[in-house]
Formats: sequence, C-alpha cells, structure tokens
Amino acid sequence: MDNGLPTSIVIFGASGDLTQRKLVPSLFNLYRKGRLPKQFRIVGYGNTAFSDDQFRAHLKEGLKEFASFKYKSDEWGTFASNLVYQQGRYTDLADFKKLGNLLKNWEINSGNRIYYMATPPGVFPNIIDLLGLTDQLTEYNGWRRVVIEKPFGTDLESARSLNEQIHKTLNERQIYRIDHYLGKETVQNILMTRFANTIFEPLWNRNYIDHVEITVAEQVGVEHRGRFYDNVGVLRDMFQNHLLQLTSLVAMEPPASFDATALRNEKVKVLSSIRSMKEEEVLKWTVGAQYKGYREEEGVDPKSTTPTYAAIRLQIDNWRWQGVPFYLRSGKSLKEKLSQITIEFKKPPHLLFPSTDGALTANMLVLYLQPHEGVHWRFEAKVPDTVAKLRSVDMEFHYDETFGKTALPEAYERLLLDTITGDASLFTRADEVESAWALIDPITEAWEASRKNQPLAFYEPGSWGPSEADELLAHEGRTWSTWDARKD
Ligand code: BG6
Repeated sequence: MDNGLPTSIVIFGASGDLTQRKLVPSLFNLYRKGRLPKQFRIVGYGNTAFSDDQFRAHLKEGLKEFASFKYKSDEWGTFASNLVYQQGRYTDLADFKKLGNLLKNWEINSGNRIYYMATPPGVFPNIIDLLGLTDQLTEYNGWRRVVIEKPFGTDLESARSLNEQIHKTLNERQIYRIDHYLGKETVQNILMTRFANTIFEPLWNRNYIDHVEITVAEQVGVEHRGRFYDNVGVLRDMFQNHLLQLTSLVAMEPPASFDATALRNEKVKVLSSIRSMKEEEVLKWTVGAQYKGYREEEGVDPKSTTPTYAAIRLQIDNWRWQGVPFYLRSGKSLKEKLSQITIEFKKPPHLLFPSTDGALTANMLVLYLQPHEGVHWRFEAKVPDTVAKLRSVDMEFHYDETFGKTALPEAYERLLLDTITGDASLFTRADEVESAWALIDPITEAWEASRKNQPLAFYEPGSWGPSEADELLAHEGRTWSTWDARKD
C-alpha cells in the first residue's frame, strides 16, 4: 500500500551492468505505467566518478540498447530528473553519512527507502552494517527495505552466517532476496495453471504423473563473467535458486492464500521433503560436465573443473510425489536457449488399439517458460482415414498470440514493484534459501571428492549436453524431451 510518503530507491553498484540493463529500464517502464509512487527518487551509489548528468546519460545509453519497449523522449526527461548519483565507497562511514544526509534533505521529515544491493555479493554485509551504523534502517517514519541479489552465500554455512549477520540490523520482513525467475510471468503462471483450474490438480500427483522434467538451457557460454563463474559453477549459479524454485512451484501443496507467508511456507515444505543425497547416491543420480573450450574463456582457470552443466534426479518424499522422479538439467553453451517444464503423465493402463504396437505416447503438459512462452497440452488423436492409427497432437496457448507481442514485462519490473508495495511473495525467505543450500551442498561436496579419481565429463558446445545425462534417464527407460514450441 502506498503510504503517500516520498520514496527513495538507492542502488548500490549503480555504475554496473545490472543497473543499466535491468533495474533502471524496469523502473522507467513502471514510471511510464504510472506505478511508481508520486514522489520518488532514484539514488545511484558506486565507485565510479559520475556527475548526475553523466549518470543519466550512461543510463540512457543502456535504455537504447536494452529496453524492450518504446518511449517518448520527454517521458525519459521527466523520469531522469529524479535520478541522482553519489560516488562513494562500500567501506567508508563518512560516505554513508553523506548518503543518509542526501536522503534526509530530500525527504524533509519522513520517507520510505529501498536499498538495492546490485553489488558483488562480498560487499553487501558491509553495506548493511554501515547503513545500520548510520541509522538508515530504523523505520521511524516510513519503511526501510533491502533488496539482495543472488548469490546468497556459497553454501549452507555461509548462507546461515549471512542471515545471522543481516538479522542483527534488519527484520526478515524488511529483506527481499531476489530470484529473478520468480518475476517471470511464465513462472508465476505455474501457480495459475495449477490452482486457477480444476482440470489439472486432481491429476497432479503420483497416481497420474510418471515424471517431471525441468530444463533451463542456455545457448550462451560464460561470456565476460568467466572469473565470477569459475568460482561458482552451475549448481550455485542456477540450481540452488532458479531450478529449485521452479521445482517448489510445481510440487507444492495449494497454499491457503496468495500471501507471502502462506506461499513461502508451502515452498519450504517441498524443499525440506526433497531427499538429501549421500555420496554414492550423488554419483548415481547426478551428472556434472563442462563444455569444451570453457577452460580457454577469459578469467577461467586453464585447469578448471567447474561444471557448466548439471543433470540431477530428485526424489520428493511425501504423499503426493513418492516414486515420481523430478529430472532437472541446466547448462551453458547448449543447443539453444530453452526453459521448459514437462509434466509427463502415465500411459494408459490397457491398450486396445492394435496399430499402436504398445508404443502409445504419454500425455504431456509442457510449460514453456522462455522463449515462445506458453503452454502445450499434448494428447493422442486418431489419424483420419485410418482404422485406428494414433498421433500426438497439441493444444497450444502462446502469450504473444493471445496478449500481444509486448505483453510480457521484464521480470525485474514486477519484483521492483512488489518491493515498493511490500509484497514479499516472490522473494526467498531465510529458511527457504537455507533449505535449498542444504540440498546442493552434498552434491558439490561429492563432486569435489570424486574429482580425485573420476575425470570430469565434457560436452560439445551447441549440443544438448553430455551423453551421461541421457544415460541418467535411459537407466529408467526415459528420455529428455526437448520440444521446441515453434516446431511442435
Ligand atoms: C542468472 C545466472 O541468475 O540467470 C546467469 O547468474 C544466467 O548465469 C541467468 O545466464 C539466466 O537468466 P535468464 O533470465 O536469461 O534465463
């Protein structure tokens, strides 16, 4: 709810990529849609020496390159007059005092504040400490919220100590840990598909579903992020957050309401029902691999064993999902950019059509997260003018056809707006982050231990990943489905 007070949005790391590519274009589009508070100001804070005008010019450049919407130059002009910049260090008390004064002078007596950590993860605990020391986080008159970008820790222990540290200065309700996947319309639509329809939920369980597959494939390699990525790898970069979030949304029980506490309680229950793997299980049910040529990327150790691809079979130990494998895979330098969730149903128990030779295709519900966002429902139909020949056909919904080509906003728009309105549903809670790390840690540890006697698997850039990942499913008589919504 807008309390009518002036609202400051402070971005730490304001001279960086994220601010130029995502944050400011998203804030600008919210402004164009009339969704920002009446009085708002965006304060960029960073190491780079920018004047206000240079900062605005830098952001305008970014807009030309990255904004997916058209705008009028006078719209930018009025928006940009609300943008200011303060050069400062992340370790200097005096710089933080200066920031506090800048905000106070603009607010006069009272105001709301968002502090957005778009910095490398190493510095944000320090920023939060300095904000605390300069009394910028107490909610005297107006709320204070802190947005934290991923990665949140590098394992369970570091995430726990980070949570402990920031809880000294902030209440959990003031903390917004971002996972940009939750801002994607198609990801939110998982909940709508499941809980705003009656036709799916009765089937959404072990009685009817054979397995679930979640693929998040990227065509790009590590690009200019080699140094960062080499210390992180695919499990920390994609699985601990995005893929486990997708898993929770697919697997969770219906929450009692669409509010942050109810929703996040159900997600945490799923994460804590996923069976944690022992070392021998990790070696059996997971595959890690690296794309050929990764070691030659800029910033990457020439002997690196960092995985850029992973495939994992998860088992959820609860009444709904017992015995239904969840296969997750993600990697860089793959054949194409494609994120999809496939729910594969069980085959009919008895085949009465002779022409199928026992090879009836199972029904599938495919949620295309990106690109070609939409939903396909695949079922069997009779081929006309045959006795009983069957073929798989699709019922399709695509966002661009139904809602228009520009209907899907940038994920950050929704998340920034939710931060302003105080809705934390699409942000990860402390216990959620920790539960996710508790699942990832045994895998990273087993992989690291196995490197001593087991060589790393490699895959060709432009392929669908290593053959070991196909074997993971072949083992159980299954294959990965990689439909392309354009062709099917
Ligand atoms: C980020 C990862 O969280 O997600 C990147 O750090 C990855 O490595 C990106 O490329 C993928 O996001 P999207 O929205 O392009 O699927």
